[in-house]
Amino acid sequence: MIRVCALADLSPGEATRVVAHVPVAVFNADGELFAIDDTCTHQDASLSEGWLEDCLIECPLHAACFDLRTGKPTGPPAKRPVRTYDVLVRDGVVYVDAPPRVDGARLSAADRAANTPDRADAADVETRQGVA
Ligand code: FES
Repeated sequence: MIRVCALADLSPGEATRVVAHVPVAVFNADGELFAIDDTCTHQDASLSEGWLEDCLIECPLHAACFDLRTGKPTGPPAKRPVRTYDVLVRDGVVYVDAPPRVDGARLSAADRAANTPDRADAADVETRQGVA
């Protein structure tokens, strides 16, 4: 378990980010707590900086929405889900059930895949940048 913050410091409608094996975003959606991978599966954007409405988080870069309950995107441009994590509150402190960061350790294949933008999307960005 990784300590996130005091529950009092995560008001409804707010989000925060912790460093676990990968960055993890923790949300207070109207009193219900959720944790997902912080990095959008479309490109490299922090979902904890997105817009939260009910149980949906909208990516700040291209507006893909992810369901905090399942991690699944509700529409394009993101195609792959983000991982979800269990959240626990004990003695007024929020914890997330995610593996800790291990300095110097290599990421697992699943962690690399979760933090790598879709290849087609990355190629699309390179193409657009080449045109501009
Ligand atoms: S980076 Fe999230 S939708 Fe593009």
